[in-house]
Amino acid sequence: MDRIRIVGGNKLNGTIPISGAKNAALPLMIAALLTEETLILDNVPRLADVAQLQRILGNHGVDIMAAGKRTGDHEYQGQTLHISAANIIDTTAPYELVSKMRASFWVIAPLVARMKEARVSLPGGCAIGTRPVDLLIMALEKLGAEIVIDGGYVIARAPDGLTGAAIDFPKVTVSGTHVALMAATLAKGTTVITGAACEPEIADVADCLNKMGARISGAGTTRIVIEGVVKLHGARHTVLPDRIEAGTYAMAVAMTGGEVQLAGARPELLQAALDVLVEAGVTVTPNNEGIRIARNGAGISPVTVTTAPFPGFPTDLQAQLMALMTRAKGSSHITETIFENRFMHVQELARFGARIALDGETATIEGIPALRGAPVMATDLRASVSLVIAALAAEGETMVNRIYHLDRGFERLEEKLSACGAQIERISG
Ligand code: EPZ
Repeated sequence: MDRIRIVGGNKLNGTIPISGAKNAALPLMIAALLTEETLILDNVPRLADVAQLQRILGNHGVDIMAAGKRTGDHEYQGQTLHISAANIIDTTAPYELVSKMRASFWVIAPLVARMKEARVSLPGGCAIGTRPVDLLIMALEKLGAEIVIDGGYVIARAPDGLTGAAIDFPKVTVSGTHVALMAATLAKGTTVITGAACEPEIADVADCLNKMGARISGAGTTRIVIEGVVKLHGARHTVLPDRIEAGTYAMAVAMTGGEVQLAGARPELLQAALDVLVEAGVTVTPNNEGIRIARNGAGISPVTVTTAPFPGFPTDLQAQLMALMTRAKGSSHITETIFENRFMHVQELARFGARIALDGETATIEGIPALRGAPVMATDLRASVSLVIAALAAEGETMVNRIYHLDRGFERLEEKLSACGAQIERISG
């Protein structure tokens, strides 16, 4: 199994290109199931999760062609996928595939909307909490699907098609909103989703669905209205930049010091995180090509942060912020409100000497002047990258084990960081 070796202490200076957003690319690929015509997606990141979803879609009979690089393309530009679900040969998504990636459960929505039936394995547990799918099922039932759970599979049927309905989410759910949105595009009549998630990835998917002929308004707000249509058609769409990747590298620069341009990052997608960095003493300068992050000389000031749905501080940057705060001048408090068990990085950060106390959903971090490198491993994607951030500033060597989590969500991480001066290498085997 590959590992990453990091020798800490170097500042980061240069440019880091920001890839397309994983959490938009995945639902966009799934949305291709809604039409028999080809959906072309540009700027799709090269990630293990994307490759896994290609396999899952392939199992349904979807043809996917990854276009080669065109002359003049930069190395870092994402891939272009031509996704054609002309013939869906199987409406079952089996356990062996769905259990590897939770978002693949979302295929249930386009399958039942277009094929009138779907049989999708329950995604099962996950290292960051129980993560149920009750609200996704509620949304599909509201749209008229009959749902049965049998042998670990959710079986959804709508022999006469789905019908528009009022769907009110009692709590903000990104997955629930994606599922409701996709399913409602082909339902008869109007669907009104209230309590919808406002994450930029939802708006990006809605934007693409509208290009495919859907009639959606209000995506990106808590109230989304969808007028169902009979058919969707092919379209071409560019995946929006990854705000979590941008925020992660911003935290890395804040941690090591130096000055880095996050090329292609869009500040409005991560304003809450940028505000926290400014409070911590980091210089954040949005410009035409992205965001410039600098910390020269000044120490890191402690902060108090609570994760919240967009536009609040994202749970997907919580671990990275915690790594940064291990070296703050004073005590920081970070409260996690989205997932009940997303603190698996705490014990690993402690291996660097970090002083973190957990009390329920709040972590108190006593900043210390220096971390020491250590062998570490992590249980989820964002936790893994928080260890990389700690290692970049730690004295001596760190070996990050189990990096397949990193490969799920960060494209060419070690190349991007070493180009800015980090001493980081992948060790195969
Ligand atoms: C998405 O997960 C992201 N994944 C997550 O990113 C992200 O952390 C999360 O949204 C929150 O922003 C993708 O987009 C692929 P939710 P999702 O439905 O959609 C509860 C990463 O590292 N809930 O908004 O699964 C749930 O347990 C990943 O890239 C129910 O109770 O998140 C959680 O507490 C990790 N019932 C809360 O809602 C349901 O039916 C928010 O979950 C569904 C969710």
